[in-house]
Amino acid sequence: AGVFTYDPGFTSTAACDSTITYIDGEAGVLLHRGYPIDQLAGQSHYLEVCYLLLYGELPSAKQLEDFEQLVTNHTMLHEQMQYFFRGFRRDAHPMAIMVGVVGAMAAFYHDSTDISDPHQREVASIRLIAKMPTIAAMAYKYSIGQPFVYPRNDLDYAANFLHMCFSVPAERYDVSPVLARAMDRIFTLHADHEQNASTSTVRLASSSGANPFACIAAGIACLWGPAHGGANQACLEMLREIGTVDRIPEFIERAKDKNDPFRLMGFGHRVYKNFDPRATVMKESADEVLELLGIEDNPVLQVAKELEKQALADPYFTEKKLFPNVDFYSGIILEAMGFPTAMFTPIFALARTVGWISQWKEQLADPQLKIGRPRQLYLGETQRDYVDIENR
Ligand code: CMC
Repeated sequence: AGVFTYDPGFTSTAACDSTITYIDGEAGVLLHRGYPIDQLAGQSHYLEVCYLLLYGELPSAKQLEDFEQLVTNHTMLHEQMQYFFRGFRRDAHPMAIMVGVVGAMAAFYHDSTDISDPHQREVASIRLIAKMPTIAAMAYKYSIGQPFVYPRNDLDYAANFLHMCFSVPAERYDVSPVLARAMDRIFTLHADHEQNASTSTVRLASSSGANPFACIAAGIACLWGPAHGGANQACLEMLREIGTVDRIPEFIERAKDKNDPFRLMGFGHRVYKNFDPRATVMKESADEVLELLGIEDNPVLQVAKELEKQALADPYFTEKKLFPNVDFYSGIILEAMGFPTAMFTPIFALARTVGWISQWKEQLADPQLKIGRPRQLYLGETQRDYVDIENR
């Protein structure tokens, strides 16, 4: 009994109300708490945007200083959690490690798992935002057989992440301010994107009263897929497969061929049918980084630039409104910075954590909160009688 609508893929169902992020896909608009993403990416920085997403307003200078201090105090991971990393194979995908380690945080930080206590909710939020870069960097260091690098609290959030990924105890490592700024922009541009698959997963997990670490681990697991956060890795792998500029027309023809499942990864978006406002900023950042590093002769990056040019000159892509999305350019920047493709999605996960947490907090503050429980359209057998095994 009961009437409900059938909406596979949730293309037309609003599952919640929210005051955090607004998207107009036709107009290419993305606002966080009312502020346009290009202004935030151009004039603000990641931790300020985190504050905005979490608390609803831009901070005063004092509020920002206190918030940064608080996050910085929590960057270290419980020393014993190193053994979790050491238990994985060296060639484990870092997303697998992150799902496990973040879920296991509930076993280490018991004092922030009681979701009925606002103080514990706050502590869990700060812990997750502060420790995600440490966890992602540890997963990377483990995969390349280098020692874990502890966080440096005199560096800002993005610079500290680069430090934990690229410094080694034997050598002095100075983080380039241009690279730190580009990293910070990647974080800012991925901070939240309303009810995407992973955020919806976090909300659904949380609706049962699950602890915050379990909810964020669920979000990480969902983000991993190639149609979602995994697209940045898939895009770079495609550029490598194309290999040389002369093979681009062949791949463009394949993408247009309806009998071939191949798609240009990093092109198109479910919501943005005009352009992805994040991609515009990311492209500027990519140009800046490539110029700084002086590595225009990197074959993957050459293929990326030429592919972008040829696809945008092809009516198939312009008529279907298939433009490069945020993952096309973020992959180029991360490749240029020296990250292996397996780290692209973990970087997305660490940046999106604040969005997941903000939405989780918003949901728990809702006095009408109900457990998420979709219905289904049953297409199976009607009732029938059990048949003994010898009579089947
Ligand atoms: N290459 C070639 N053709 C494409 C592509 C592409 N990347 N994307 C869509 N099309 C075609 C598709 O074949 C279809 O053609 P037709 O109308 O003739 O059948 C038309 O464009 C519409 O595609 P759709 O699959 O109905 O659109 P969607 O909104 O369901 O899919 C998408 C959106 C992002 C899943 C899809 O564009 C895609 O697979 N892109 C590549 C993967 C990718 O880059 N994903 C990252 C998304 S941004 C990061 C995030 O927020 O998670």
